[in-house]
Amino acid sequence: MKLTELVSRLSCSSHYTIWEYIVKQKKGTSFALYLRSSSMIKRFRDDVSQIQASKQERQMIEEFIKTLPKAELHLHIEGSLEPELMFELSSRNKVDMPFVSVEEVRAAYEFSDLQSFLDIFYAGAGVLLQTQDFFDLTWAYLEKVNRENVRHVEIFFDPQTHTDRGVPFRTVITGIHKALEEAREEFGMTSYLILCFLRHLSEKAAFATLEEALPFRGWIEGVGLDSSEVGFPPEIFERVFTKAEEEGLRKVAHAGEEGPPEYIWQALDSLGVSRIDHGVRCMEDQKLVKRLVKEQIPLTVCPLSNIKLKVFDRMEEHNLKKMLDAGLCVTINSDDPAYFGGYMNENFLATQKGLNLSLEDLAEIAKNGFRASFLPQEDIDSHLQSIDDMLAMQSTSG
Ligand code: ADE
Ligand code: ZN
Repeated sequence: MKLTELVSRLSCSSHYTIWEYIVKQKKGTSFALYLRSSSMIKRFRDDVSQIQASKQERQMIEEFIKTLPKAELHLHIEGSLEPELMFELSSRNKVDMPFVSVEEVRAAYEFSDLQSFLDIFYAGAGVLLQTQDFFDLTWAYLEKVNRENVRHVEIFFDPQTHTDRGVPFRTVITGIHKALEEAREEFGMTSYLILCFLRHLSEKAAFATLEEALPFRGWIEGVGLDSSEVGFPPEIFERVFTKAEEEGLRKVAHAGEEGPPEYIWQALDSLGVSRIDHGVRCMEDQKLVKRLVKEQIPLTVCPLSNIKLKVFDRMEEHNLKKMLDAGLCVTINSDDPAYFGGYMNENFLATQKGLNLSLEDLAEIAKNGFRASFLPQEDIDSHLQSIDDMLAMQSTSG
């Protein structure tokens, strides 16, 4: 650690008052520190060791999270559109943007709730027009998370956001699919695609979207339900989900993000989903928690998203650790990383810091990501083994 950094930290320490030490700046870069007594020197040394130990621990945790093999199960591909690419696509496709700079776009990402975010999110997606755009979008996400050691992804896409603007379904899915295939070849990253119905639109519109998807059935693993939650209960889409099931598709749904626990019950009982996206409000209903634990229904929690959309005020208040301790199958995901300030590793890091998660907690959450995935059991087992190996190495080296 640099002495400058140390001094600036020490000056915040309650052990010291400003007059207890003198800091001299030489040529604007280096500092000398004079302490007035031997007891002060001892206190100084103790503080140095404490700061160095906590910094080393932080570095070790960061390294652990980086190397941990991870699966991302809750990612809206349109939510990975970074402002830089948004500008590039707006000029490539000659689409007007209500912003003049990347900084201005980022500054606009202050949300009061889910709807205030969705309004900006759907507007941003307006720059996506050609197959190449959907490829570039998906590829940028995959390259990024490959560097974070994400080994498997299950990606949501919202076809209605594009088909309602006149972009053909084929254009959307071809671009995304091609990028997923390239990532499989180049990075060995496995993936599935999940088509989400927009719940603020009608059941009829969802049926029409499912019909459009059927020629591409081989590229789609499952269906989901997203967009504005409160006022749009899952049961509205019961018949569409039944049809999707008949087509052999898996089923997931957003529920209990802003909506009440009742929506989680409906997602389970009316839609028959095998995973709940978000689900953090389940903790308000102990009968529901019991069921989710008993059936080990996975919950794809998105901590940074929950803070940005004011589901919780601060990370320290997030209920993820309580969920984990209750025996729920909790996973960590990024939701819409370009809008919420972080991809997978940032979500793991922020949650670890806010809730003081142990390495065992982090490993368990990463394992849940693979357990909750739609991968074949032998692939899941091999990922779980690699996490166990990593934990074993950590305990012998630490
Ligand atoms: N679409 C994109 N992000 C979403 C979220 N967090 N909840 C519901 N719909 C979404
Ligand atoms: Zn989501």
